[in-house]
Amino acid sequence: MQTVCLFVMLLSFQWVTGENVLIWPSEGSHWINLKPVIEELIERGHNVTVAVHASTVYINYSEPSSIMFEVFDVPFTRDRYKEFFNDILHFWIYEKVILSYGDLYRRFTEMIRTGTELNRQICDGIIKNHKLLQRLKETKFKVLLTDPINPCGDLLAMKLGIPFIFTLRFSLGSSMERFCGQLPAPPSYVPVVMSELSDKMTFTERLQNIFYMQLYTLMNEWFWHNWDAYYSEALGKPTTFCETMGKAEIWLIRTYWDFEFPRPLLPNFVFVGGLHCHPAKPLAQELEEFVQSSGEHGVVIFSLGSLVKNLTAEKANMIAEALGEIPQKVLWSYAGEKPKMLASNTKLYKWLPQNDLLGHPKTRVFITHGGTNGIYEAIYHGVPMIGIPLFADQPDNMAHMKAKGAAVVLSFISLTKQDLINAVNTVINDTSYKENALKLSRIQHDQPMTPLERAVFWIEFVMRHGGAQHLRPEAHSLSWYQYHCLDVIAFLFICLAAIVFAFTKCCMFCCRKCRGTREKKNKVE
Ligand SMILES: *[C@@H]1O[C@H](CO)[C@@H](O)[C@H](O)[C@H]1NC(C)=O
Ligand SMILES: *[C@@H]1O[C@H](CO)[C@@H](O)[C@H](O)[C@H]1NC(C)=O
Ligand SMILES: *[C@@H]1O[C@H](CO)[C@@H](O)[C@H](O)[C@H]1NC(C)=O
Ligand SMILES: *[C@@H]1O[C@H](CO)[C@@H](O)[C@H](O)[C@H]1NC(C)=O
Repeated sequence: MQTVCLFVMLLSFQWVTGENVLIWPSEGSHWINLKPVIEELIERGHNVTVAVHASTVYINYSEPSSIMFEVFDVPFTRDRYKEFFNDILHFWIYEKVILSYGDLYRRFTEMIRTGTELNRQICDGIIKNHKLLQRLKETKFKVLLTDPINPCGDLLAMKLGIPFIFTLRFSLGSSMERFCGQLPAPPSYVPVVMSELSDKMTFTERLQNIFYMQLYTLMNEWFWHNWDAYYSEALGKPTTFCETMGKAEIWLIRTYWDFEFPRPLLPNFVFVGGLHCHPAKPLAQELEEFVQSSGEHGVVIFSLGSLVKNLTAEKANMIAEALGEIPQKVLWSYAGEKPKMLASNTKLYKWLPQNDLLGHPKTRVFITHGGTNGIYEAIYHGVPMIGIPLFADQPDNMAHMKAKGAAVVLSFISLTKQDLINAVNTVINDTSYKENALKLSRIQHDQPMTPLERAVFWIEFVMRHGGAQHLRPEAHSLSWYQYHCLDVIAFLFICLAAIVFAFTKCCMFCCRKCRGTREKKNKVE
């Protein structure tokens, strides 16, 4: 019996080891979040190949690693690509709040146009490179994993004839999930991503939610529209960007119920938020000594993320002054010029072992820009937060944490010294923030399998079975009026109208008959 068990186990293990996985990656924090999944796949004996263009900013393909890189050329330089990212950051952080609507619209269209053009050149680099496509085809990949923030991953999978899986935090207003993935999102209690609303909405907030839903949908359709022709040409048949996305086997969403509000789900949507989190490792001696020197007050960790490393001198000095007035010691991840007002309780670091620091018992508060990677490390270790959101989904992420009572949110643009001091004192003095952060932490830790195991399970599931079509709802093949049963409602309405009509006619006929006989009777009398 035991040997049979062992044999079956060996067989099933053999079935999933040593497969080839193809990755179509994204830049920045998206890459940071994908890496643990890649490492786990390699750990389990799979061959992972990352197809990346030569001018990537955040993915260092010359670094020695067990990941195989398939590097292809693009007609722009790394500096050009970096400039594009900096331009987006500058727009989001500094320009968005000061530009008039007209200028905002112009800048936004300009950026969409540039982004689309760069993305098209990246897609061309692989989709129109027949030699490379042929080589990839010969490698017999079992699955492709991609982040839909960059187009073309799904298209590449279709060209190679292999199943694909999405990994994402969100799309603008959740419109990709709603339209291309058919994920239901009733606007009455599901706030769309980037609305900064919670699940408890007043009448005006529901109005706002529906407004955002429509606005973001329009923006996304405008963006998708650029790709419909490209996708149709590449696949040699009329199709749309959204239709191709809808063929995904699994959507791995990088959040979980410690972060999300309860909402309706589909079986092919799997929530894996926090997959990159792990227990804290001991700090280097110099760091440990500084942390210990804080005594009973503890330390504050301050980081505005992997993308924003410097601030204006004015802002940096204001923050430095505020930090100087709190009793805690502060570790600040900052690569800009040292602020003149920097106090003795604050130390600057070009890089911090953020996860290890958040897991340190002396850590009291995490001041963050509100990226999901950092938020999840704070949730994992039960550390309350002060959010200074800068761009993209960050304000929305912090709105979630605020609604769950684990964070105070400040505005980056109108931030004052006193705001920051008050926020630190509030989060530390009012113990409810810590308690709520611990509650979220317990939700994160108490799961049948870790988020990373869950993500890898579904990737291996798709490889084992050649897909997961049994989880894909039939909603994909319905038209909008069939989806809402408007045809059935119309039919029932016509039936009802016919019955009412027939009934009224009948009644009128009877009435006339009655009146007729009565009149006759009267005449006879
Ligand atoms: C994985 O990659 C290694 C090294 O390139 C190769 O020897 C091996 O055959 C590959 N495995 C599979 C299943 O293709
Ligand atoms: C990438 O890694 C290589 C090898 O470790 C290193 O020499 C190089 O400086 C790195 N490049 C960047 C941009 O970090
Ligand atoms: C941050 O540094 C970059 C160059 O590294 C520079 O272009 C940018 O202007 C700086 N931003 C601020 C706000 O100082
Ligand atoms: C909050 O804590 C700070 C020190 O951390 C202290 O100076 C301040 O008086 C406290 N405020 C309240 C209202 O307890």
